[in-house]
This record gives sequence, structure tokens and C-alpha cells, in this order.
Amino acid sequence: MIGRPRVHHRVTDSTNERARELAATGAPHGTLVTADEQSAGRGRQGRAWVAPPGRAILMSVVVRDFGEHQLLPLAVPVAVCEACESVAPVACKIKWPNDVWIDGRKVAGILVEGRPQEGWAVLGIGLNVSTTEDEFPDELRDTATSLAVAANQPVDRATVLDRLLESVEQQLEAPAADILGAWRDRDALEGQTVRWRDGEGVAAGISDSGALVVESNGTRVELDAGEVHLLR
Ligand code: BTN
Repeated sequence: MIGRPRVHHRVTDSTNERARELAATGAPHGTLVTADEQSAGRGRQGRAWVAPPGRAILMSVVVRDFGEHQLLPLAVPVAVCEACESVAPVACKIKWPNDVWIDGRKVAGILVEGRPQEGWAVLGIGLNVSTTEDEFPDELRDTATSLAVAANQPVDRATVLDRLLESVEQQLEAPAADILGAWRDRDALEGQTVRWRDGEGVAAGISDSGALVVESNGTRVELDAGEVHLLR
């Protein structure tokens, strides 16, 4: 179901933008938009997402009638981790709320945009597959990686995409407890000091609704991903 129908663009501004347009005009659950290149890829918190042509998976999936599925933003990184680990000898972690890391570097980012009142959401995934170290922009070279760099072997983009579609489908059907368990097993921040605009504390896992729990000056604070931006 996830991945059909599929629209592929050689170049587009943003696959999330294309998928949102399709969703707004009635595209069915599972509709997939992919691109080799984006001219205006979007990240969370208004940031840009950049990837050299043909080196990354740039995809957006329309999901419908996910009802009370509050955990979409957590289910997607779990799916990305499982797909990556099934095609390459890597160990993936998740940096709250949904960055995927290998060896402390970001390999994938996720942007979930939705219209809950219209019953749809778009799951946008950018996954660096075969980007080489020198292809990352200077400002990302120390913090980004690709599957091929991390695994030190070639990785085929079409194979990763197939696995990713399967694992997204599985995670969308998984019970909340399983999603939370899998996410918690991969928590990259647990025990680390984290900082945000209004405070600092030690990360202590996530709540059942996906908020980041932080111990700060003897109190437990819950940070909401929609409102709080962690400082690196
Ligand atoms: C982030 O890390 O801030 C999220 C990055 C999400 C990037 C993907 S690439 C495919 C899809 N289209 C977009 O414009 N953004 C997402």
C-alpha cells in the first residue's frame, strides 16, 4: 500500500510540497513522491534540507485516516533505522524527536506535515545514501554522514527505498507500545546534557506522547517537539 501510486520528479522544489498538493486534492493513502534533486528542500524549524543530485532518498508519503496515531513523528525514524540496518552494517540511533544518527552524525531527517482536520499527513524523509564526505557542504561536514560513508561500502538507493517503504508500512500498523519501545531502545540523548532556549538539563527518555523528558534542577520537564528547539 505504501508507495503506490508513485510520482517521481527528476527535480522539484520539495517532495513534501508536491505531496501536500496531491493530498489536498484527494490522493490516496500511500501515495509516494520521490525526487533525484530538490531545489528548495525543507527541514524542521524552517531550516533547509540539501543533498547532491541522485545521492539521497528524497521522499514524501501521503498517509490518511491515521486517526489517533499521535506517534507518527516517532514511528517514521524507527522505520528509517530498521531499513538502514537491513541493508548495511550500521547501528542507528534517534536524536529526539526524529533525526537518525549513525556514529553521532546525522544520516536522515524527517519532516511530518499534516492537516489532521482533513485526515491526512505527509511523511517527508531525507536519507543520505551514497553522498561522499567531500560532497557535504562545509558547515555539515563534521555533523552529517551517509549510509555508504558509515558502512564503508556502496549502498544501492533503490534497494534502500524498497526497504524503507516496507518498514514505514510496518511501523504505521505497529501498536503504540512497540513504537515507543523501539524508539526508546535507540534514544541517542538519554543521559546527555541538552540545552534549549529557556533551559538546560539531562535527557531522561520520552513520555508516552513523545515529549522529551528532561531532569532540570531537580524537576522533571517535558519538552514538546512542536514548541522546543534543542540547541546543539
Ligand atoms: C530535518 O532534518 O529538519 C528534516 C529534513 C526533511 C527533509 C526531507 S527531504 C524529502 C522531504 N521534502 C522536503 O522538502 N523535506 C523532506
